[in-house]
Amino acid sequence: MNKIFAKDLTRWYQKHQRSLPWRATRDPYHIWASEIMLQQTTVNAVIPYYERWLKTFPTVFDLARADIHDVLKAWQGLGYYARAKNFHKAAGLVVDDHGGKLPVDPVLVRSLPGFGPYTTGSVLSIAYDARLPIIDANVRRVVMRLLALPGEADTQQDKKVIAFLEKVLPRKGVGDFNQALMELGALVCRSKEPLCLLCPLRSYCSAYAKGKQEI
Ligand code: ADE
Repeated sequence: MNKIFAKDLTRWYQKHQRSLPWRATRDPYHIWASEIMLQQTTVNAVIPYYERWLKTFPTVFDLARADIHDVLKAWQGLGYYARAKNFHKAAGLVVDDHGGKLPVDPVLVRSLPGFGPYTTGSVLSIAYDARLPIIDANVRRVVMRLLALPGEADTQQDKKVIAFLEKVLPRKGVGDFNQALMELGALVCRSKEPLCLLCPLRSYCSAYAKGKQEI
């Protein structure tokens, strides 16, 4: 079932995904910028910032040698300025220690400022197809419904969510698989009024089978 689960999901994603600027690239620095911005800011709000950011700092070298004041100015309006400060610091380390190439090794990446489990998993899976799960609020809700886990969709559930994702994560196309789960949560498996009749995972979904998808 695991192989078809991933196939059903990614086929849906190929057809229905929103066209977003960071989906047209595999450049690790571009993916990195998008994922940092998307952490606390909605997709539609991020788009113009992302595009402007890459005009101002087209490469990790440009960001690394930029003055922090210019970095914070480009970030203005996005909030949570620690994200921009960490991004700038980490860019400096990637240039100084790794020749400007974001490492593939998740242990090295985790040691960089601003890289927690979410950012590490999302950037490495999308840019390098590393087989790492990612959990955000959308993914957590989708998996909790698939398994009909009771309780609030919060981090308390993450051990079970990770155990499930480890099983269904494909060997190839991990970045698309991860983005497909997020996209499904955003567009179909919505918190309120989920669109179960449009869902490619309906046949796998315990909450749907029990009529419990709304809770
Ligand atoms: N939220 C976090 N990462 C995302 C991505 N790559 N696409 C859409 N929404 C996201």
